[in-house]
Amino acid sequence: MVVGKPLLTVAQIQKKVRALADTISDDYEGKNLLAVGILKGAFIFFSDIVKLIKTPLRIDFIVASSYMKTDTIGEVKIFYDIREDITNKDVLLIEDIVDTGVSMNYIRERILMKGPKSLRICTLLDKKERRQVDVPLDYVGFEIPNEFVVGYGLDYDNRFRNLPYISIFKKTA
Ligand code: IMP
Ligand code: MG
Repeated sequence: MVVGKPLLTVAQIQKKVRALADTISDDYEGKNLLAVGILKGAFIFFSDIVKLIKTPLRIDFIVASSYMKTDTIGEVKIFYDIREDITNKDVLLIEDIVDTGVSMNYIRERILMKGPKSLRICTLLDKKERRQVDVPLDYVGFEIPNEFVVGYGLDYDNRFRNLPYISIFKKTA
Protein backbone atom coordinates (compact mmCIF):
# COMPACT_ATOMS: atom_id res chain seq x y z
CA MET A 1 0.00 0.00 0.00
CA VAL A 2 1.39 3.34 -0.99
CA VAL A 3 0.48 6.85 0.01
CA GLY A 4 1.93 9.14 -2.61
CA LYS A 5 3.16 12.69 -2.34
CA PRO A 6 0.57 15.31 -1.39
CA LEU A 7 -2.15 16.05 -3.94
CA LEU A 8 -3.17 18.94 -1.70
CA THR A 9 -0.63 20.35 0.74
CA VAL A 10 -1.25 21.66 4.24
CA ALA A 11 -0.83 25.22 2.94
CA GLN A 12 -3.27 24.72 0.04
CA ILE A 13 -5.86 23.21 2.37
CA GLN A 14 -5.48 25.97 4.97
CA LYS A 15 -5.87 28.68 2.35
CA LYS A 16 -8.99 27.05 0.91
CA VAL A 17 -10.58 26.45 4.32
CA ARG A 18 -10.06 30.12 5.18
CA ALA A 19 -11.62 31.24 1.88
CA LEU A 20 -14.64 28.97 2.36
CA ALA A 21 -15.08 30.20 5.94
CA ASP A 22 -14.99 33.82 4.79
CA THR A 23 -17.70 33.23 2.17
CA ILE A 24 -19.85 31.30 4.64
CA SER A 25 -19.40 34.03 7.28
CA ASP A 26 -20.71 36.62 4.80
CA ASP A 27 -23.59 34.46 3.56
CA TYR A 28 -24.82 33.54 7.06
CA GLU A 29 -24.67 36.97 8.67
CA GLY A 30 -27.78 37.40 10.84
CA LYS A 31 -28.90 33.80 10.25
CA ASN A 32 -29.48 30.99 12.71
CA LEU A 33 -26.62 28.74 11.64
CA LEU A 34 -26.42 25.09 12.61
CA ALA A 35 -23.20 23.54 11.29
CA VAL A 36 -23.55 19.77 10.92
CA GLY A 37 -20.41 17.69 10.46
CA ILE A 38 -20.69 14.36 8.70
CA LEU A 39 -18.52 11.86 10.54
CA LYS A 40 -16.13 10.33 10.58
CA GLY A 41 -14.54 11.75 7.43
CA ALA A 42 -15.27 15.44 8.03
CA PHE A 43 -13.92 15.61 11.59
CA ILE A 44 -10.76 17.57 10.78
CA PHE A 45 -12.28 19.79 8.08
CA PHE A 46 -15.24 20.52 10.37
CA SER A 47 -13.13 21.54 13.34
CA ASP A 48 -10.85 23.69 11.17
CA ILE A 49 -13.65 25.51 9.35
CA VAL A 50 -15.91 26.25 12.34
CA LYS A 51 -12.98 27.98 14.06
CA LEU A 52 -12.79 30.39 11.11
CA ILE A 53 -16.52 31.06 10.63
CA LYS A 54 -17.34 34.39 12.26
CA THR A 55 -21.14 33.94 12.38
CA PRO A 56 -22.41 32.71 15.76
CA LEU A 57 -23.34 29.06 15.30
CA ARG A 58 -24.43 25.83 16.90
CA ILE A 59 -22.97 22.47 15.99
CA ASP A 60 -24.25 18.94 15.63
CA PHE A 61 -23.16 15.79 13.83
CA ILE A 62 -24.40 12.95 11.70
CA VAL A 63 -22.48 9.70 11.86
CA ALA A 64 -23.08 7.92 8.58
CA SER A 65 -21.54 5.07 6.72
CA SER A 66 -22.06 4.04 3.14
CA TYR A 67 -21.30 0.73 1.59
CA MET A 68 -21.92 -0.87 -1.75
CA LYS A 69 -24.86 -3.21 -1.62
CA THR A 70 -24.25 -4.23 -5.20
CA ASP A 71 -21.70 -2.88 -7.65
CA THR A 72 -23.87 0.05 -8.50
CA ILE A 73 -26.34 0.61 -5.66
CA GLY A 74 -25.00 2.23 -2.50
CA GLU A 75 -26.69 1.94 0.88
CA VAL A 76 -26.34 4.51 3.65
CA LYS A 77 -26.56 3.76 7.36
CA ILE A 78 -27.04 6.45 10.01
CA PHE A 79 -25.53 5.68 13.42
CA TYR A 80 -26.13 9.09 15.04
CA ASP A 81 -28.51 11.78 13.84
CA ILE A 82 -28.96 15.51 14.54
CA ARG A 83 -30.55 16.09 17.95
CA GLU A 84 -31.21 19.84 17.57
CA ASP A 85 -34.65 21.02 16.49
CA ILE A 86 -33.88 22.22 12.97
CA THR A 87 -37.20 23.84 12.01
CA ASN A 88 -35.85 27.33 12.83
CA LYS A 89 -32.25 26.67 11.78
CA ASP A 90 -30.19 27.43 8.71
CA VAL A 91 -28.50 24.08 8.38
CA LEU A 92 -25.08 23.80 6.74
CA LEU A 93 -23.86 20.27 6.10
CA ILE A 94 -20.09 19.94 6.21
CA GLU A 95 -18.66 16.92 4.38
CA ASP A 96 -15.19 15.74 3.43
CA ILE A 97 -15.91 14.42 -0.07
CA VAL A 98 -18.80 13.93 -2.48
CA ASP A 99 -18.08 11.00 -4.74
CA THR A 100 -21.07 9.17 -6.31
CA GLY A 101 -23.35 11.55 -4.39
CA VAL A 102 -25.39 8.69 -2.93
CA SER A 103 -24.52 9.46 0.71
CA MET A 104 -25.03 13.20 0.46
CA ASN A 105 -28.28 12.81 -1.44
CA TYR A 106 -29.63 10.44 1.20
CA ILE A 107 -28.62 12.72 4.08
CA ARG A 108 -29.97 15.81 2.33
CA GLU A 109 -33.40 14.26 1.67
CA ARG A 110 -33.58 13.02 5.25
CA ILE A 111 -32.95 16.52 6.61
CA LEU A 112 -35.31 18.19 4.16
CA MET A 113 -38.13 15.99 5.48
CA LYS A 114 -37.66 17.59 8.90
CA GLY A 115 -38.25 21.05 7.41
CA PRO A 116 -35.17 23.19 8.18
CA LYS A 117 -35.37 26.94 7.58
CA SER A 118 -32.71 26.43 4.91
CA LEU A 119 -30.22 23.77 3.89
CA ARG A 120 -26.88 24.12 2.15
CA ILE A 121 -23.96 21.81 1.57
CA CYS A 122 -20.25 22.48 1.96
CA THR A 123 -17.76 19.83 0.84
CA LEU A 124 -13.99 20.09 0.86
CA LEU A 125 -13.57 17.72 -2.10
CA ASP A 126 -15.73 17.03 -5.14
CA LYS A 127 -14.97 13.95 -7.26
CA LYS A 128 -17.36 15.11 -9.97
CA GLU A 129 -16.46 12.48 -12.57
CA ARG A 130 -17.88 9.73 -10.36
CA ARG A 131 -21.27 11.35 -9.74
CA GLN A 132 -24.32 9.05 -10.03
CA VAL A 133 -26.85 11.15 -8.15
CA ASP A 134 -27.10 14.86 -8.81
CA VAL A 135 -26.84 16.70 -5.52
CA PRO A 136 -26.57 20.51 -5.26
CA LEU A 137 -23.27 21.62 -3.70
CA ASP A 138 -23.17 25.21 -2.44
CA TYR A 139 -19.55 25.43 -1.28
CA VAL A 140 -16.81 23.31 -2.82
CA GLY A 141 -13.15 23.41 -1.81
CA PHE A 142 -11.45 21.46 -4.58
CA GLU A 143 -12.57 19.43 -7.58
CA ILE A 144 -10.31 16.38 -7.68
CA PRO A 145 -9.65 13.70 -10.31
CA ASN A 146 -11.10 10.20 -10.10
CA GLU A 147 -8.50 8.85 -7.66
CA PHE A 148 -8.86 7.45 -4.17
CA VAL A 149 -7.49 9.94 -1.66
CA VAL A 150 -6.59 9.75 2.02
CA GLY A 151 -5.60 12.19 4.76
CA TYR A 152 -7.11 15.24 6.46
CA GLY A 153 -9.91 13.02 7.79
CA LEU A 154 -10.27 10.75 4.76
CA ASP A 155 -9.44 7.11 5.21
CA TYR A 156 -8.66 3.79 3.69
CA ASP A 157 -10.02 1.14 6.08
CA ASN A 158 -10.09 3.78 8.86
CA ARG A 159 -6.39 4.51 8.40
CA PHE A 160 -4.46 7.62 7.28
CA ARG A 161 -7.12 10.00 8.63
CA ASN A 162 -4.49 11.83 10.69
CA LEU A 163 -2.27 12.82 7.75
CA PRO A 164 -2.29 16.64 7.74
CA TYR A 165 -2.37 16.74 3.91
CA ILE A 166 -4.34 14.85 1.21
CA SER A 167 -2.65 12.19 -0.91
CA ILE A 168 -3.58 9.73 -3.63
CA PHE A 169 -3.66 6.22 -2.25
CA LYS A 170 -2.58 3.24 -4.34
CA LYS A 171 -3.12 -0.34 -3.36
CA THR A 172 -0.19 -2.48 -4.45
CA ALA A 173 -0.38 -6.19 -5.02
P1 IMP B 1 -20.49 8.86 -2.09
O1 IMP B 1 -20.02 7.88 -3.12
O2 IMP B 1 -20.59 10.26 -2.63
O3 IMP B 1 -21.74 8.38 -1.42
O4 IMP B 1 -19.37 8.92 -0.98
C1 IMP B 1 -19.46 8.09 0.12
C2 IMP B 1 -18.30 8.21 1.05
O5 IMP B 1 -17.23 7.46 0.49
C3 IMP B 1 -17.70 9.56 1.31
O6 IMP B 1 -18.39 10.33 2.28
C4 IMP B 1 -16.34 9.15 1.82
O7 IMP B 1 -16.41 8.84 3.19
C5 IMP B 1 -16.04 7.94 0.99
N1 IMP B 1 -15.13 8.25 -0.11
C6 IMP B 1 -15.42 8.51 -1.40
N2 IMP B 1 -14.30 8.75 -2.11
C7 IMP B 1 -13.29 8.64 -1.23
C8 IMP B 1 -11.86 8.79 -1.34
O8 IMP B 1 -11.28 9.08 -2.40
N3 IMP B 1 -11.15 8.60 -0.20
C9 IMP B 1 -11.72 8.29 0.99
N4 IMP B 1 -13.04 8.15 1.15
C10 IMP B 1 -13.81 8.33 0.05
MG1 MG C 1 -17.70 11.10 4.37
